[in-house]
Amino acid sequence: MTRNIAPINNTENHPLSKYYQFQSRIYDMTRWSFLFGRRQLIRTLPIPKKKSISILEIGCGTGKNLIQLAKKYPHAEITGIDLSEEMLQICRKKITPYQGRISTIKGAFGEVTFRENFDLIVFSYCLTMVNPGWDRLIDQAKSTLKTGGVMAVVDFHDTAVSGFEHHMAGHHVRMDGHLLNVLPKKFRQHEQQIAKAYFGAWRWFMFIGYKKP
Ligand SMILES: C[S@@+](CC[C@H](N)C(=O)[O-])C[C@H]1O[C@@H](n2cnc3c(N)ncnc32)[C@H](O)[C@@H]1O
Repeated sequence: MTRNIAPINNTENHPLSKYYQFQSRIYDMTRWSFLFGRRQLIRTLPIPKKKSISILEIGCGTGKNLIQLAKKYPHAEITGIDLSEEMLQICRKKITPYQGRISTIKGAFGEVTFRENFDLIVFSYCLTMVNPGWDRLIDQAKSTLKTGGVMAVVDFHDTAVSGFEHHMAGHHVRMDGHLLNVLPKKFRQHEQQIAKAYFGAWRWFMFIGYKKP
């Protein structure tokens, strides 16, 4: 049975929870066209497919990555946490075929305490939306990761178009390269890529690193 741990903290008044009350309805229809690099991140993960690992995706949204992770790692135990009930409702339907392997938790990471030490933590287009608090979230994720475990991040990087930066700020997204200033300092880098979207309208990045001993 899929282990959905139903509301363990109250997130209804969180600004992102309110934002996704509507956005969840159009999320899967629209995000394929601008949240680039998600499949590539999972393809690039340096952990062998046959390993029995525990994986946490923080801000799992509607579950696209959870399913890709379950396909790549058939022996993995996968947990997704998200603060938006509306996003999780869509996610729970999608992960039904993976009952027992993928579980979801409703809550804001940082307020929810995890006993488990994970082998892999994924942040996919989550950290640029955590303003303020993205740096604290990285530190909290790091403390939840096993030593030698993998931190994998894909997200917006920056834009030279100030109107676009302003537009994205209206969608809670910060796009000024701040994450790549910090991630390589906190983790031993395995992979880093920065790529242009729509001929340079913005850039997105992928970072994979190991937790140092
Ligand atoms: C842009 S969506 C990305 C969803 C998914 N990772 C993907 O790649 O499609 C960002 C998600 O992060 C969630 N989120 C943001 N901050 C969070 C936090 N502190 N704890 C849990 N979820 C969070 C939001 O509710 C939202 O569903």
